[in-house]
Amino acid sequence: MRNMSLTAIAVIVGVSFATAAKAEPQVEVLHWWTSGGEARAIQVLVDDFKAAGGTWTDMPVAGGGGDAARTALKARVLSGNPPTAFQMKGPSIQEWYEEGALSTGIDAIAKEQNWDAVLPAQIADHMKCEGKYCAAPVNVHRIDWFWANPAVLAKAGVAMPTTWDQFNAAADKLQAMGITPLAHGGQSWQDATVFEAVALGIGGNDFYRKAFVDLDMDALGGATMVKVFDQMRKLRGYVDPNFSGRDWNLATAMVMNGEAAFQIMGDWAKGEFTAAGKVPGKDYLCAPTPGSGYLYNVDSFAMFDVKGDDKVTGQNLLAKLILDKKFQKVFNLAKGSIPARIDVDLGEFDYCARRSAYDMNVASSNGGLLPSFAHGMAMRNAQAGAITDVVTRHFNSDLSSADAARLLAEAVQNSL
Ligand code: GAL
Repeated sequence: MRNMSLTAIAVIVGVSFATAAKAEPQVEVLHWWTSGGEARAIQVLVDDFKAAGGTWTDMPVAGGGGDAARTALKARVLSGNPPTAFQMKGPSIQEWYEEGALSTGIDAIAKEQNWDAVLPAQIADHMKCEGKYCAAPVNVHRIDWFWANPAVLAKAGVAMPTTWDQFNAAADKLQAMGITPLAHGGQSWQDATVFEAVALGIGGNDFYRKAFVDLDMDALGGATMVKVFDQMRKLRGYVDPNFSGRDWNLATAMVMNGEAAFQIMGDWAKGEFTAAGKVPGKDYLCAPTPGSGYLYNVDSFAMFDVKGDDKVTGQNLLAKLILDKKFQKVFNLAKGSIPARIDVDLGEFDYCARRSAYDMNVASSNGGLLPSFAHGMAMRNAQAGAITDVVTRHFNSDLSSADAARLLAEAVQNSL
């Protein structure tokens, strides 16, 4: 101490004052992860945040797919009281940025951790607002999956289908035995989830891209779309009488308990099987729905433009923890998805996750890596809403396939 210069002492004292004055990281996180698997997954982030000295205020708004949470978010932003972070996806990130609601403050963390080098470019692009990171990705969910109960399939002597015709034949057989072929929850986002998987399989990758990425009117209202609706009509005949309004995780439970054979759902359904201690290949089966594409859905936390050092520090800490390699592993083991980072070892992941990663790679090299419209990755909200309305209306009425395809194109046209 005796030999220390006054400047050195001043620096040390200055540093400790700065540390003492440094704001405690705070976040208030709005999300909809309330099912068994979802809650386990978000808890990983909550625990990490608290362990790093932060205070987490949880704002869950129940409702699969997030419609209710998004309504709550709008109300919060309109009243001038946005949350620190929201589980947001796809183009709506840029839509909220254009409204002036988001912050790009975490870009400094992204540079420090070199996110550009560890995220696939397609995912990184979704996270950026005018070239800077405004959201942090936790995962990649695949949408186009069948989840099935192997004992039920064996009882009916049916195999995992690889075409929609095979699926229909299997479903007819199951139904004749008094087994519900398809566990489904009649909520519009679930109808849209099934619809996009069907569209990918029946129309193929180029058709899907034309219809749901380019919003090409001929694809939206044409003959292939009529066939897609024909298959949706078939599926409507394979659900049980109580499907209306059912939550997606209850539909997953029907497959788990052997009350139904199949569910078509994104791999958050796997989070439910995992939470129940079920093992893929033994207790349940996963397989991509027909087709050669891959529908992706990236969950991420977008950062709102909030005041206060504690909140800004909280956003930076959140961003840093989200991109941590270990977090990406542990979170995704629970969520059913795969890490957004490309350098996480998948050794501890199950067959379904490894299949997802493999197929994603293949799809990204053959033009089949396609954004899910049902989960807000492909287009703006107005168009996605317009399509979803027609899909749900068709599913719940006797609207003909031809009329549905025509209405689909009209609805998108009117929403532009
Ligand atoms: C999706 C979301 C998933 C899952 C699902 C059901 O939109 O990306 O993480 O939570 O909804 O709630």
